[in-house]
Amino acid sequence: MKFKTTELIPALLAAFILITSCGNADKGTQGNAMTDSLKTGETAVSAKIMDRGLVVYKTHCFACHQMTGSGIKGIYPPLAENKTVTGEKTYLIRILLNGMSGPIEVNGEKYNQVMVPHNFLNDEQIADVLTFVRNSFGNQAEEVAADEVKSVRKANR
Ligand code: HEC
Repeated sequence: MKFKTTELIPALLAAFILITSCGNADKGTQGNAMTDSLKTGETAVSAKIMDRGLVVYKTHCFACHQMTGSGIKGIYPPLAENKTVTGEKTYLIRILLNGMSGPIEVNGEKYNQVMVPHNFLNDEQIADVLTFVRNSFGNQAEEVAADEVKSVRKANR
């Protein structure tokens, strides 16, 4: 049996169109809704903010508080399952701007070390990293906005 090439072209074209359109249909219907927001129960924090927060966390926090937010027992407090982390935002912003020292107790474990100020980070970086830690490691809390950091920084002076 022989095919003329002119007869094959339309068939190949049809197959090609079918394959490519299937691929697009997949992306078109699911892509945005699934990836644009990382939904954690009641709060829906955008993946964009979480990604930016992760970058700051990897650069400025993880060495002490660890990638899992576990900290190191007795030295660096955990950020996972920590009521301060999911608690009052102004207090949290102040910790990053001013640093922290003195005795604290987290989940029954005592810490008495020094965290240096991170006021060299800009308002958005602080907001992003706090939103990230408040919605990672099993935590779930309201986002922190750059404007909130801005006003705490202003009142702080
Ligand atoms: C060099 C180590 C180090 C780095 C880097 C660091 N921290 Fe800390 N952090 C500490 C220590 C130590 C404490 C506890 C201080 C104390 O004992 O009073 C602390 C405390 C905290 C607390 C308060 C915990 C509580 O239960 O009161 C938060 C929140 C926090 N850090 C977040 C961050 C974030 C976010 C970053 C990154 C921007 C960061 N830290 C970077 C060492 C560090």
